[in-house]
Formats: sequence, structure tokens, C-alpha cells
Amino acid sequence: MKILVVMAHPRRDSLTGQITDAVMSGLEVAGHEAELADLYSEGFDPLIMPPDEPDWGSKDKTYSPEVQSEIARLERNEGMILVFPIWWWSFPAILKGWIDRVWNKDVAYGSRFLKHKRALAIGLSASDGPTYAKRGYDTAIETQIVTGIFDFCGIADGRFAYLHHSTDGGERPAEMIQEAYEMGRAFSDGL
Ligand SMILES: Cc1cc2nc3c(=O)[nH]c(=O)nc-3n(C[C@H](O)[C@H](O)[C@H](O)COP(=O)(O)O)c2cc1C
Repeated sequence: MKILVVMAHPRRDSLTGQITDAVMSGLEVAGHEAELADLYSEGFDPLIMPPDEPDWGSKDKTYSPEVQSEIARLERNEGMILVFPIWWWSFPAILKGWIDRVWNKDVAYGSRFLKHKRALAIGLSASDGPTYAKRGYDTAIETQIVTGIFDFCGIADGRFAYLHHSTDGGERPAEMIQEAYEMGRAFSDGL
């Protein structure tokens, strides 16, 4: 399968970047073709401006050239993995803006939907599972991404995976990298 791996982190050499590399290695070992979208280094502009606002009265809007090129990248892949640090119990603004602009009306919802067979969101978190569960952040994040975005846009097989304790140091980064590699390797299991 062709899989789009979307990374949202200001530094390519961050732990998030290393997790991205590991997930892509796992995908490639499993025979997939991974395509990287590194939103920060590509200079993606997350702000919706009028050319990319949906037209609620028409199904034929032509979006800006930057968004059309992102739509083409989205549509030439059959699976998707988002990799990002959790910031304020949510995902980074650049990724939100990428979804705002690119997963647009009559591309991802409305008269057309996305056709990806599976989507996985991987969130790196400094905290731990019980802390998320105590306040309901775990349910909130998963509902927002898996139901509110993936499923809403036609990707029924959406998943969320945490990599907790991301700032603990010691052996934790190496463990996380191994977990991410396995996520890539097993991405299409059961499809
Ligand atoms: C602006 C900001 C907000 C953050 N908010 C959270 C949070 O809500 N929950 C959490 O567990 N960690 C939070 N963190 C910690 C990040 O998740 C952590 O720095 C990241 O997973 C480490 O990966 P990196 O080295 O690739 O940046 C936050 C970090 C930053 C910079």
C-alpha cells in the first residue's frame, strides 16, 4: 500500500522525527511505500484564507494551488499515519490547519469522502495513561480525531495510539522507537 506519513514537529531531529523514521521503516519492511509530509519543514501555512474556505452553495469549488497539491498528495495514498506531540491535550496547530485547509468540503466530506483504507494517529505524550483517563482527555482526543475527523471523512478504520512518557529519557526513547517500528510493520494487518 501507499501510505502518507504526516509529521507535525518543528524539528526533524526531535523524538517525534525519530518516531516518524521508525514508523516509516516498519512500513517499508512490511512492503509498503511510505511518503513523508513534514509540514513544518515544507513551510505549510495552516491558516485558512478565503480561497480555501468551503463554498456551502456549490460542489465545484477550486481551492488554492497549495491546497490542490496537498489534495493530490492525500489522494495518491491509500493509508495514512499522523505523527505528532500532544500539546495541550490536543494536536499541534499546524496539523489542525492542514486538516482545516486540505480535508476540505467535497474533498473529504460533503459530496466526496476520503478513500484511505486505514488511518492511524500516533501522539507522543509526556504524561501517562491514568492522567489522561482521570480527566477524560483520552476519550476526548480519540473522539475528536478518530470519530470527528477520520470517520466523518469516510475513513471508518481509524485508530489512535499513544506513546506516553516521551520526556522521561533513559531507555524510554529507544522503547518508543521500537513500538513505533512495530506500528508501521503491523499497519495493514487484517486489511
Ligand atoms: C506547547 C506544549 C504543550 C504540551 N502539552 C502537553 C499535554 O497536554 N500533555 C502531555 O502529556 N504532554 C504535553 N507536552 C509535552 C509534549 O508532548 C512532549 O514535549 C513531546 O511529546 C516530546 O516529544 P518531542 O521531543 O518530539 O517534542 C507539551 C509540550 C509542549 C511544548
